[in-house]
Amino acid sequence: MRFTIAVDGPAAAGKGTIGRALAERFGFAHLDTGLLYRAVGAKGGDPVAAARGLTPEDLCRSDLRSLAAGDAASRVAALPEVRAALVAFQRDFARRAGGAVLDGRDIGTVICPDAEVKLFVTASPEARARRRWLETGGDESQVLAEVCARDARDMNRADAPLKPADDAQLLDTTDLSIDAAIDRAAKLVAARLPR
Ligand code: CDP
Repeated sequence: MRFTIAVDGPAAAGKGTIGRALAERFGFAHLDTGLLYRAVGAKGGDPVAAARGLTPEDLCRSDLRSLAAGDAASRVAALPEVRAALVAFQRDFARRAGGAVLDGRDIGTVICPDAEVKLFVTASPEARARRRWLETGGDESQVLAEVCARDARDMNRADAPLKPADDAQLLDTTDLSIDAAIDRAAKLVAARLPR
């Protein structure tokens, strides 16, 4: 069976947690596409060459989840040639037999416009900054500023900006526990699975 779940949304909205949980629940493969951009940003040098030559080892660096890596990711992610270099890998992953969940910014709009399920996961900037701060530590107001700056860059770029697909289902996790958010997402998926 080929079945693609696209999970998009702004920074620290819960896409990764929800994406991983959906993959586990339905037995699908999961790809955190943000990791691709984080790895390109972290490699340094020419980002286009880095994207074209990305290796599985590049995705295993231990520093990819830092705020600095997120910032670098959103800078290289604005370059059309970087994005173009990563399209084929993501599309192949999405159509693998057995089903796939991809989380990112442009999965429902650009990478997989025909995905069987499209979720757009959001939460208030304050809730998202708090969640990210619990992971990274540091100064909470600075984390909020970095999250907002990254969202603005992602929403305002010309190529594949962050926005919900016209047919995406919105999931606001501001006041939801992790379990409640996963539950709601799983119900939306279950409703679209072939019987
Ligand atoms: O985990 P978090 O939501 O903070 O970020 P991420 O998903 O790891 O993505 C890091 C950055 O990569 C984003 O701010 C985007 O600029 C970029 N990105 C993108 O442009 N397209 C994607 N499909 C995924 C990430």
